[in-house]
Amino acid sequence: MAVVQEKELLCKEWLAKPKKLLIDGKWVEAKTNKTFKTYNPATEEVLAEIPEGGKEDVDLAVKAARRAFETGAFYNKFSASQRAKCLYTLADLIDKHADELAQLETLDNGKPIKESRWVDVPMTAETFRYYAGWCTKLEGETINTNNDFFTYTLREPVGVVGQIIPWNFPMLMLAWKWGPALACGNSVILKPAEQTPLSALRLGELALEAGIPEGVINIITGLGPDSAGEFIANHMDIDKIAFTGEDRTGQIIVKASAGNLKRVSLELGGKAPNIVFADADMDAAVNGAITGIFFNQGQVCCAGSRLFIEKKAQDEFMSKLLDRVGKMVQGNGLDEKTVIGPQVSKEQQERCLNYIDIAQKEGAKLACGGERPEGLDKGYFVKPTVFTNVNNDMRIAQEEVFGPVLSVIPFEKMDQVAEQANKTRFGLSGAVWTQDVKKAHKFVKKIQAGTVWVNCYNVFDPAVPFGGYKQSGYGRELGKHSIELYSNIKSVWMNLAD
Ligand code: NAI
Ligand code: MG
Repeated sequence: MAVVQEKELLCKEWLAKPKKLLIDGKWVEAKTNKTFKTYNPATEEVLAEIPEGGKEDVDLAVKAARRAFETGAFYNKFSASQRAKCLYTLADLIDKHADELAQLETLDNGKPIKESRWVDVPMTAETFRYYAGWCTKLEGETINTNNDFFTYTLREPVGVVGQIIPWNFPMLMLAWKWGPALACGNSVILKPAEQTPLSALRLGELALEAGIPEGVINIITGLGPDSAGEFIANHMDIDKIAFTGEDRTGQIIVKASAGNLKRVSLELGGKAPNIVFADADMDAAVNGAITGIFFNQGQVCCAGSRLFIEKKAQDEFMSKLLDRVGKMVQGNGLDEKTVIGPQVSKEQQERCLNYIDIAQKEGAKLACGGERPEGLDKGYFVKPTVFTNVNNDMRIAQEEVFGPVLSVIPFEKMDQVAEQANKTRFGLSGAVWTQDVKKAHKFVKKIQAGTVWVNCYNVFDPAVPFGGYKQSGYGRELGKHSIELYSNIKSVWMNLAD
């Protein structure tokens, strides 16, 4: 088997080193003296002990971030092009360490090495490159007012930003958060997810190496409630919170923001409709269905978890789909042949198995999967699972499973499917498959979601905004829209009257 052997791991030495918090440019121990463990989800083995940051650690990080911001360490003292150079250098360092970072991400998260190496790592570097370009493009306006005044706007950083990220794309979520925040000249306190803190710690080292001044980036590993996450969300000296994760946690973050009315941007869950019309290229649609639900083991906020298929194409579609799913190679993510790895944690594995149980009790028909794979006794695996006979009102079609579980729902009419597609509290994304251009354009407008893919799925670019309608959150990340999240506009009135 082509699994990378332990002795070949490029990150092995780094993994063995004690893990610390990054505060004010230095790696320090947590004041709590507490730690938690991070596991390899393919083997259930402990990868590392991680410091559990507490209130005092968060306070120190906020103080350092505030000092760096107030002294203009990365803003006034740096020119825009010097700031850009740091981000370009960070992107280059990510490329230089791409194999090592990909292995680290696969070890901590479980995702197939092919995905970490060819999606997560390069897209992380690309995101930093994209925002490096923005450093020198931030502008205000001059505005025509009464002749007695000269009026203009300045675009300024927000200040100290708390960023709380999930475990499904640990490195990439970091880049989506750091890229625009740093381009605008903010200071950040990042809390990676407790399931996957490793790549953030390594990127913290690379950020220092790239010349980002002390205090501008701080990393506090820890848990959510009653731990670093909560202390960041509640902090009175943090000006903005950016959060990606569960919708219920999003609600807690919003409530916590009320204390000092900090700005909030949220990227929460989804229950995306992936809609296949009978006139679609069926092979392409089957590919899209597979990418839509099984990419990253289904642990994707925009996963195409509800597959609406036009009834007259259902038989052809299902037979092609099940044939393909049956051939998917599941195993340790470090194996080059693996296309589907384990879920990130035991908790997530149990969540999937529980929803599979619920779906069967509700009357959905199991077409494949539905259990742990045979022959893999260790690891948090769930077989790729497809349900047919699903009704859009069932829990399996309304609640976020966040796993490799597809619900297939047949439909007959375009209006009927649009209504059902929108019958969800989420609105992050959706897709439509058809060769009829008019139908595609009409349908795009009907879908209540922040992203709609036509004849493709899960396509991303750092220049294209991403975010939710309805309970999938607010604010748009990526593109120039993320610059809005991380900057303030100041209007300046100069009196020219004699
Ligand atoms: P979560 O929302 O609890 O965790 C995400 C981040 O928030 C982590 O860094 C966590 O430590 C932090 N956090 C948790 N509680 C917090 C609190 N009270 N205050 C501040 N920070 C807090 O998500 P979890 O529990 O890991 O996953 C549960 C479900 O959430 C998943 O099954 C999935 O449905 C959804 N989810 C959605 C994601 C997305 O990309 N939209 C990503 C991860 C999970
Ligand atoms: Mg949680």
